[in-house]
Amino acid sequence: MNVLVIGGGGREHALCWKIKESPKVKRIYCAPGNAGIAGIAECVDIKVDDVELLLQFAQRKQIDLTIVGPEASLVAGIVDLFESKGLKIFGPNQVAAQLEGSKVFAKEFMHRRNIPTAIYKVFDQAKDALDFLKAAQFPLVVKADGIAAGKGVYVCADLKAAQVAIDDIMVKKIFGAAGNRVVIEECLQGPEASVLAICDGRHFLVIPTAQDHKRIFDDDMGPNTGGMGTFSPNTLVNVNVLEQIINRVIEPAVRGMYQEGNPFKGVLFAGLMLTSDGPKALEFNVRFGDPETQSILPRLDSDIIDIFMATCEGRLNEVTAHWRQEACVCVVIASGGYPGKYENGFPIHGLDEIKDHETFIFHAGTKNDGGVLVTNGGRVLGVSALGQTLEAAAAKAYNAVDQIEFDHMFFRRDIASKIQREKIVKQ
Ligand code: AMP
Ligand code: GLY
Repeated sequence: MNVLVIGGGGREHALCWKIKESPKVKRIYCAPGNAGIAGIAECVDIKVDDVELLLQFAQRKQIDLTIVGPEASLVAGIVDLFESKGLKIFGPNQVAAQLEGSKVFAKEFMHRRNIPTAIYKVFDQAKDALDFLKAAQFPLVVKADGIAAGKGVYVCADLKAAQVAIDDIMVKKIFGAAGNRVVIEECLQGPEASVLAICDGRHFLVIPTAQDHKRIFDDDMGPNTGGMGTFSPNTLVNVNVLEQIINRVIEPAVRGMYQEGNPFKGVLFAGLMLTSDGPKALEFNVRFGDPETQSILPRLDSDIIDIFMATCEGRLNEVTAHWRQEACVCVVIASGGYPGKYENGFPIHGLDEIKDHETFIFHAGTKNDGGVLVTNGGRVLGVSALGQTLEAAAAKAYNAVDQIEFDHMFFRRDIASKIQREKIVKQ
């Protein structure tokens, strides 16, 4: 079969790599892809939210299955369009994608379905939000309603910080229309975890947990990023915690969407806070995580195409996914300056030296510049390695990272370190 993957980051490289293992797949296309993906798939220069052009491409190339990476395509309605033309596509439709696309939609849904979450209020006028804040207790959290490149959440210690958040989001409109409404909510305490489930509308398959490292610097210092590294499994989410999360969050969400006429198909990614009152949902994403996927897919020991096809055909209950016992650690290598300003175009050296067959180099921001592999983004590479333990996997990943070199490269030294894991467990 012919498969189209939408996106061009490390997540999509990991997806293409896993898809390529399937004997059922003849051709893989990726839009827009990157220099690493180009080694295993044919990259096509179409933007992820240009859904009309993507449809024309899929029809012309007789694509049998499309897998969507980023939320932008989903929110733009790619699934509705492809399905209206009879094409199989993995991901939620536009309404279901609102679970990520609108914090207000997600909060109202959680409230209706009794899914534990922070107490909240919605405002569509800056003045009303500011009035509310005057009598509010701190800390609290202010969130832009729409998608804001992961930057629309302000955890505010005091009134002043919350006023700045309202000013940024609703008055200065730094996230554009995403800031037409805000959610102001209770600040929850506890360690964070995420649980991902593949859903076919009625059934779901929980996939192994992974822990992201969001801050740019070691010890969780500095600004938030898209994610600087992950490890799987997440030692924090033991069997009991996972069962609570499934029973209180995942299952009611899947059932709720189905009962409300918006069956959820694709990846439901629940971001959670493990509070002393039990797990509470912070947010939903409607796609695979990046870089979580880069530490989860190397552990998959089944044909990913079988899982995707069963999802699209509503028979996920017939599928069992097998996962390797080994742990996996992914270390992200970024351009110096990220998540702020950085330069592109630096040649990347050392990749050919990495020969271990359980170490995987997933490209994110890379480009082929006249035969030279150069940097082309904030997050440049994800280096994943499998090992008997998280320590062994991390040692292997860092061993590979140490062979890679480009000007101004930057990475965290403490992904999956003992301190990180114990900090997460103790919090
Ligand atoms: P979100 O995009 O909603 O997951 O928010 C991004 C980050 O903001 C989360 O990973 C948390 O670290 C933090 N956050 C979001 N909501 C809350 C909350 N209600 N209480 C405390 N922290 C939060
Ligand atoms: N790594 C977090 C995300 O994909 O949203």
